[in-house]
Amino acid sequence: MKRIGILTGGGDAPGLNAVIRAVVHTAMNEFDAEVIGLRNGFDGLLEPEHLINLSHTEVRGILSHGGTILGAANRGNPFSRKEIVNGKETIVDMSDKALQNIEKLKLDSLIVVGGDGTLTISKALYDRGAPIVGVPKTIDNDMGGTDITFGFDTAMHTATEALDKLHTTAESHSRAMILELMGRNAGWIALGAGIAGGADAILIPEIAYDLDHVIQKFEERALNGSHFNIVSLAEGAYPIGGTPQYQSKEGTYPGRLGGIGNTIANDLNVNSNINSRCTILGHLQRGGTPTPYDRWLASLYGAGATHLAMAGAYGYMVNITGRDIGSISLADAVSQTPKLVNPNGDLVKAVRGMGITFGDE
Ligand code: F6P
Repeated sequence: MKRIGILTGGGDAPGLNAVIRAVVHTAMNEFDAEVIGLRNGFDGLLEPEHLINLSHTEVRGILSHGGTILGAANRGNPFSRKEIVNGKETIVDMSDKALQNIEKLKLDSLIVVGGDGTLTISKALYDRGAPIVGVPKTIDNDMGGTDITFGFDTAMHTATEALDKLHTTAESHSRAMILELMGRNAGWIALGAGIAGGADAILIPEIAYDLDHVIQKFEERALNGSHFNIVSLAEGAYPIGGTPQYQSKEGTYPGRLGGIGNTIANDLNVNSNINSRCTILGHLQRGGTPTPYDRWLASLYGAGATHLAMAGAYGYMVNITGRDIGSISLADAVSQTPKLVNPNGDLVKAVRGMGITFGDE
């Protein structure tokens, strides 16, 4: 009987449980294989006492649940792990122990579900002989080698609902309502929700903005009778000649992005006649029940990853191109990361054509 390990690394995203469930169902039904869950990302590989045998019972009812029953961690890189050595916090390379534990646990393969950080670590472990198969996850949709990651659709849905709600206050008070959205250095969530939520300005890291252009656009709208404005803003957006704004230096290097929305709102309030407020949507984008699309994608990813694992296609990641589930080497996927919005692409052109400003002209 083959033994498949599975862990979920990095930040959580809606659809992780659907992947776990699909892996268990496919492994047990199609291959009569056994599935072992490792808790808390790569920590579970270094401290394998946190194991869980996954059968139909453990995954019953989790398809529609956000989060991950295995827990996630974005600090567990086995190549540089914080350990207390002689009473002092020290960075230690624990990759040998991770590889030994894969053998000790008699895992024929290890399915790693994660974003760019987790899958980059996975590639490095695979290069050292680990039988890893990757599954791309992130609400940011910035993972290369795949058209789309699960979690993104749910985040875009949540962001769009928020924009819909902000519209009413924007109209009632003749205000500019700014919604600051996640996405790290990629503007996919702000762009997607901005289109779906009828934004007047979409500000993303891929296109630096000049606030004067945004003000000009809002003044033109006022002349045409629209005295309210909606801004879909990516947390990583920054002005021409500027840099992204960080709320803290903690978290994934080089820190946690955030705060640009309030900066823009203050600038508008001080330097223009546009009354403005900012809402930061934050981790609401990572939570909640996954959309049907994310459940569909995550389930197909889970089934596809199990097929790759059973075929011995280690060092590969399941992906989607159009509507087709396939695979790509982790090396290629990681080298194409981060996948950013093409500022000169058709999508951006179409948005400009609809009269939405990116703040650059
Ligand atoms: O990568 C997912 C993401 O939610 C980003 O959009 C965001 O910048 C970051 O993680 C937040 O990380 P944390 O949960 O550590 O605050």
